[in-house]
Amino acid sequence: MKLSGSVAVVTGGAKRLGRAVVLALTERGARVLVHYGKSADAAAETVAEARRRGGEAASFQADLTDEAAVHQVIPAARNRFALVDILINSASIFERGSFTDTTSAGWDRHFLINLKVPWLLSQDFAAQVEAGRTGKIINLGDWRGLRPGTDHFAYTMTKVGLHGLTQAMALALAPNIQVNYLALGAMLEPEGGGVDMRRIIARVPAGRLGGEEAVVSAMLFLLTEDFVTGETLVVDGGRSLV
Ligand SMILES: NC(=O)c1ccc[n+]([C@@H]2O[C@H](COP(=O)([O-])OP(=O)(O)OC[C@H]3O[C@@H](n4cnc5c(N)ncnc54)[C@H](OP(=O)(O)O)[C@@H]3O)[C@@H](O)[C@H]2O)c1
Repeated sequence: MKLSGSVAVVTGGAKRLGRAVVLALTERGARVLVHYGKSADAAAETVAEARRRGGEAASFQADLTDEAAVHQVIPAARNRFALVDILINSASIFERGSFTDTTSAGWDRHFLINLKVPWLLSQDFAAQVEAGRTGKIINLGDWRGLRPGTDHFAYTMTKVGLHGLTQAMALALAPNIQVNYLALGAMLEPEGGGVDMRRIIARVPAGRLGGEEAVVSAMLFLLTEDFVTGETLVVDGGRSLV
C-alpha cells in the first residue's frame, strides 16, 4: 500500500505510541483521524503538530465503552476525509491484577476496550473497504499475548485474544485486507510512573526501552508490504526469549 493519499484511523492517537504513529503517517502523506477518549488537549496538540509538519489530521472523541460511540469512529473518518484504508487499534487499558484478585468488572472492562472494540471497529472498517481496494489493520499487542504471565491478568488475556483475533480476521478479510499484530515489549514508561524501570529493563536483552521509533518502523513495514498477513512482529528487544 502507498501511504501517500491514504486515510487512516488511529485509536488512542492523542498521546504516547498512538501519537507517534499519527505523526509518522501524516508525515508520509496519510490523512489521519486521531481518535481520543479523555485527552482532548493532547489530541488537539497532536493534530496541530501534524499540521505544523505539513500533514492532514483531525481529532474525534469517542468513549470506547459506549458501543454507539464506537460505531461513529469509522464514519467520522470517512465523512472528514474519504474511505478509510488503514485502521490502527492502539487504544487500550492496562490495569494491575493477578489471577486471584482480578475482578469480574475489571475483566469485562479490559475485554471490552482491548478486544471487543478492535473487532467492532474492524467490522465497520472492512464493510467500507470496496472490492479492488487494499486495506490494513494493525493491532497493537504485547509479547505477553504470546507467552502469558500472571501479572496484569485481564490485560494479558485480552492481548492473547487480540493475537487470535488478528489471525482469524486475516483469514476472514483476505485477500484485500491484511491484518497484523505487533507484539510489543517495554516501549515507554507507564504513564504516571510508580514502576521500577531499572528492574524491567534488567530483563530486556537489548538493555533499554524500545521507544516510539521501533513501533513506527515495524508498523511502516506492515503497512507497506501487502504479502504479509496474520503475522506477528515481535518488537521487544528480546524480552520474550528469556
Ligand atoms: N507503552 C508500552 O510500552 C507498550 C507495551 C506493550 C504494548 N503496548 C500496547 O501499545 C498500545 C499503545 O500503548 P500506549 O502505552 O501508547 O497506550 P496507553 O497510553 O496505555 O493508552 C492509549 C490510549 O487508549 C485510550 N483509551 C483507553 N480507554 C479508552 C476509552 N474507554 N475510550 C477511549 N479511549 C480510551 C486513551 O485515550 P485518552 O487518553 O484520550 O482517554 C489512551 O490515551 C496499547 O494497545 C498497549 O497495550 C504498549
